[in-house]
Order: sequence, then structure tokens, then C-alpha cells
Amino acid sequence: MRSVSAEQIGHAREMITESVINLERRDDGVAIITLTNGKVNPLSTAVLEGLHAIADELAADLPGAVIVTGGERIFAAGADISEFGGPEEGAMITRKFHDALGALAALPRMVIAEVAGYALGGGCELAMACDYRIASTKAVFGQPEILLGIIPGGGGTQRLPRIVGASRAKEISLSGRQVAAEEALRIGLADEVVEHEALRERSLELASSLAKGALVAQGLTKEAIDRGLSLTLDDGLAVEREAFTEVFRSEDSQIGVKSFLEHGPGKADFVGR
Ligand code: COA
Repeated sequence: MRSVSAEQIGHAREMITESVINLERRDDGVAIITLTNGKVNPLSTAVLEGLHAIADELAADLPGAVIVTGGERIFAAGADISEFGGPEEGAMITRKFHDALGALAALPRMVIAEVAGYALGGGCELAMACDYRIASTKAVFGQPEILLGIIPGGGGTQRLPRIVGASRAKEISLSGRQVAAEEALRIGLADEVVEHEALRERSLELASSLAKGALVAQGLTKEAIDRGLSLTLDDGLAVEREAFTEVFRSEDSQIGVKSFLEHGPGKADFVGR
């Protein structure tokens, strides 16, 4: 467990993230995390530490929804290969990836990957750690680690088969081939594909509309789905019962039910508690 005070996080983030990753918090409740690490956006140690610090900061002061994005042409080119050292480095690199992407994935809010271009290796893994992927027609996904003689270490061997199925995940990861946007949409790796120029508009539209929603219920729904994925149906249903019981205690559930009875569906003004 990593335990860092808010002050330390703020300080660390300032030091680490100034030039390689950026967090913008908007008035509509949407937080936008942008990778800004040079031309190809490699997920260097500094980017991963910055991402982890930003995820911790968001967890301590939750936004309404999160967008994760990269460059116009390259979302992220994967782990920073120039940082790969000797045989002993593997354990450290995979741990940093799992910690940072795990902290992002655990946020009890919808995390949307906005993928404008190449999302390769760790870039694809970062997109898959998000809850939903909106891609531009120019996006390209892939797990090319095999071409370097290594394997995905940022969650790819686990998240890709959960998204596209085991056989397709094996074919993509063992060949290292690139998956263009249209195919990504067909196999479920991208959830939506939009024109390149319309990408930001669409991701903001979705994120800001979710940010106005019943946030306690959103968080509990996400958690129940994610926890249930690694459980038996019976155990997953027990998780749902717990979450359903809890959501009934939220202020938003009172507001939502009252508003429905008085004005019909979709009219409630939620308060996020
Ligand atoms: N880590 C470190 N450096 C990287 C990198 C990475 N993951 N990906 C690219 N670079 C570097 C290249 O070595 C090159 O450096 P140079 O300018 O000093 O020669 C520079 O970034 C530009 O790369 P290039 O391949 O010339 O750019 P491109 O626009 O033609 O292609 C990509 C962009 C992302 C498609 C391509 O660079 C690529 O496939 N990268 C590797 C992806 C990968 O295998 N990721 C898994 C890592 S385990």
C-alpha cells in the first residue's frame, strides 16, 4: 500500500509531472489527464509516477468523470524502451505500471480514454485500464511487446482477453500486429469511433453529462461490475446486494426517486452524495 499525504502528493506531482503529464480540472466536474511526454508520449517512470500521483489526488477529491488523453498523433507509444536496463529491471517496470494503472482504474468514476492516434503497448494498456475507449478514425491499438521479445507488463495479458476474448487477445499479442480503429470497434477494443476532429467534443459530451449524474450510484455500479468480473455469479450477486443496500442510503437515491415520482425520469438534480 502506498500512503502519501495530500501535501506530499501535491509536491510530488508538481516535481514529477510538470512537463510529462498534466491534470486539468474543469468547472463542469470533468478532470482531464493529458500525457505530454514529447513526440511519442512514452510511459516513462516519471509519467507513471505522475499518473499515480494524479490518480491519488483525484481519489482524495473526486471529480465527476475523468478523460485520459495523449497526443494528436500518438496517444502513447508504450513503456519507455530507452529506460529498459538489465534483467533485473522487469519486476520494477511491471510493478510501476500495475500500481499507476490500478490507481486510475480504481477511481469510483467513469474514466474515459480519448485515443486520437497510436495506443501501443503500455499505451493500449493505459486505454484498457480506463472504463471506456473513444477512438478517432486515426487511432491504432496493439500490443507489440512480442516484437521486442518481451510480453505486455502493464495489464495487457489480463485486460485484453477480458475485453476482446482470449483467442483474439492471443492472436493480437503473439503477433504484435496493429489494430486499426474500425477493427478495434468491431472487436470491442474501442467502444466508439468518431471523426478525428470530433473526438474531444464527443469525449467531453459524455464526460460532462456523466459528471452531472448520480455519482455515488455510478461509483457503486462500476465497482460491482469490476469486482464481479473476477467472481462467480453467486459471489458477484452478493457484491451487487451490498452495493444496492448501500446506494439506498445515499442522498441522491432519495432525490432521484422523489424526482421520478413528481416529474418523470431523467429530471433529477443530483448532489453527488
Ligand atoms: N520508448 C522509447 N522511445 C520510443 C518509443 C518507446 N516506446 N517509441 C518510439 N520511440 C522513439 C523512437 O526510437 C524514435 O527515436 P529517435 O527519434 O531518437 O530515432 C522516436 O521515438 C520516433 O519514433 P518513430 O518510430 O521514428 O516514430 P513514428 O512516428 O514513425 O512511429 C510509433 C511512432 C509509436 C508507431 C513507433 O515509434 C512505434 O511503434 N513505437 C514502439 C511501440 C512499442 O513497441 N511499444 C511497446 C514498448 S514495450
